[in-house]
Amino acid sequence: MLGQCSDRRFMHKTSEWLLSFSSNQKLNSRSLSLEDFRPCTKISITGGKGGVGKTSISLKAAQELAKSGHRTLLIDCDSNLSNTAIKLGLPLDNKFEKLLSAEASFEDVLIQQGNFHLLPACNGSISLFESKLNFAEIIIDIINSHEHEYDYILLDCPAGVSREALTLNAFCDYRWVVVTPDKSSITDSYSLIKLLHNRFGTKENHLIVNMFQSEKQMQKVVSTLGQTIENFIGIKTSFLGGVKKAEISADGFDTFFLSETNNEWQKNFVKLLYEFTEKNGGPMAARLQGTSLMAHEHDVH
Ligand SMILES: Nc1ncnc2c1ncn2[C@@H]1O[C@H](COP(=O)(O)OP(=O)(O)O)[C@@H](O)[C@H]1O
Ligand SMILES: [Mg+2]
Repeated sequence: MLGQCSDRRFMHKTSEWLLSFSSNQKLNSRSLSLEDFRPCTKISITGGKGGVGKTSISLKAAQELAKSGHRTLLIDCDSNLSNTAIKLGLPLDNKFEKLLSAEASFEDVLIQQGNFHLLPACNGSISLFESKLNFAEIIIDIINSHEHEYDYILLDCPAGVSREALTLNAFCDYRWVVVTPDKSSITDSYSLIKLLHNRFGTKENHLIVNMFQSEKQMQKVVSTLGQTIENFIGIKTSFLGGVKKAEISADGFDTFFLSETNNEWQKNFVKLLYEFTEKNGGPMAARLQGTSLMAHEHDVH
């Protein structure tokens, strides 16, 4: 069923963007069109390694941007191990299969909570597993068709450095690389950034250090990874901020991180988003007024 999918529905713009990378052509060598000056900001939340907090951070960022009045779409790009709906306690229905086979529309599959929209993917779908679909092309076509409806589109990327994951990362305006203080996460993030640079000419990445236990440890991750990237790849890396490790059971973290409560994690994460959106022209300032966030300015940095 999936095999016959959507080639017709999804073919138009993806191929144009992907073709710009054929014959080793880099992004900046293609000619720009009006399509390149779109107001929707696309961010991938990525990092190579699994279990570093990409999904928790994607959900939190999308929900906070939505609360600040931004129309925000989070797309779960872990095509067949989708975790976003699970973390929100929503039922899993593999409806995404029906979108792929054109039996359901984008709106049918979308979960909408005010300004926060979530496009979940599948969980163990056999037909998706057996299909030959290029998931990255499908996601890019969905974005091309719907970005005019959103201020932000966030992609919760899968672990690994598959061609599909790299393609989605390269397509976005920004990449938030989530890294934890362990060596394998630092190495995987470096490999991801190297491959993105070599294959797609990607030069800009933002680091988020998750699960750090002390300020010193966080700074060490930033300087070690930043220096290695600069020395061996020749590009600079921006540091977006950190999320402290919570001494709490795994599922417990999502419950309180995604809750409305005004805890330390909440305040620091809103501050991180504020700094990013301000630097990139987005108005999160209203959100900060009337809160005590500024008093916590040094909590993370
Ligand atoms: N700062 C943190 N402190 C404690 N636990 C965390 C933190 N960030 C994420 N977690 C937990 O770590 C686990 C992995 O996070 P997840 O977002 O699913 O990772 P990924 O998407 O990178 O595989 C989850 O159980 C999540 O609740
Ligand atoms: Mg995940």
